[in-house]
Amino acid sequence: MYDMEYIKLPYINSTNTYAKDNAKSFSKEITLIQSEVQSHGRGRLDRAFISDNSQGAWFSVAIKPEKGIITPEMVLLMPVMAASATALTIETVYGIRPGIKWPNDILINSKKACGILCESRIIHNDVYLVVIGIGINLNQKKMHPDIADIATSLLIETGTEVPIDLIIQNICGNVAFFYDKIKHGETACIIDKWNEYSLMNNAVITYTKEQLSYTAISKGINTDGRLIIEQDGKIIYLDSSEVRLKIQGV
Ligand code: BTN
Repeated sequence: MYDMEYIKLPYINSTNTYAKDNAKSFSKEITLIQSEVQSHGRGRLDRAFISDNSQGAWFSVAIKPEKGIITPEMVLLMPVMAASATALTIETVYGIRPGIKWPNDILINSKKACGILCESRIIHNDVYLVVIGIGINLNQKKMHPDIADIATSLLIETGTEVPIDLIIQNICGNVAFFYDKIKHGETACIIDKWNEYSLMNNAVITYTKEQLSYTAISKGINTDGRLIIEQDGKIIYLDSSEVRLKIQGV
């Protein structure tokens, strides 16, 4: 469907950083940047993302939309589509059902198998670049001791080793499909897919915002990708850039 450019690197600090630094030279609307190893994988909220091994899928999908086709509001849907696309691939390839923890972690049996970091550059209200960074623990037999309590790999959970490139190709196909939907204003199917895998439907959550902790019930996401929560009888919308969150019992 899309004629994508594919850049495969043996080693880089971060594929998201590479995409942002080199976007000027990308000639296609979609460029896939994959690295076998990342020395400084980055996560949300300035956290490090362990990806200093060649057992995972560490890649970024850089989108340079045609001028005027994607609005800054539509960019909020990019992490939603990335999580939906990845969850769909995991279920299709491995036959297990992953869960999406808002904003964009994918869990298997309550442990994190994938994280997504979306970054964008908007110039004078024009979306110049969207970078969707996806990191999936695939073929690790054991997780790094620092994260073994909270993270897992697809191999650990399923006993199946799948070639990394196959997973990335499948996700990119889904991303391209959903991106086309966004371009045509057909966003409902992306939210629906997200909700299908969501762990946030009527879940009790605790979240931290500006160093204060709150408990609430999550209700799902709105069309902006914000989390709808009920707290003290009121409906509030949470922005992913400002909170850390836990789901009770997960
Ligand atoms: C998170 O868990 O907070 C998000 C992690 C995102 C990791 C991916 S790996 C490929 C891309 N390059 C990065 O530096 N980060 C993303």
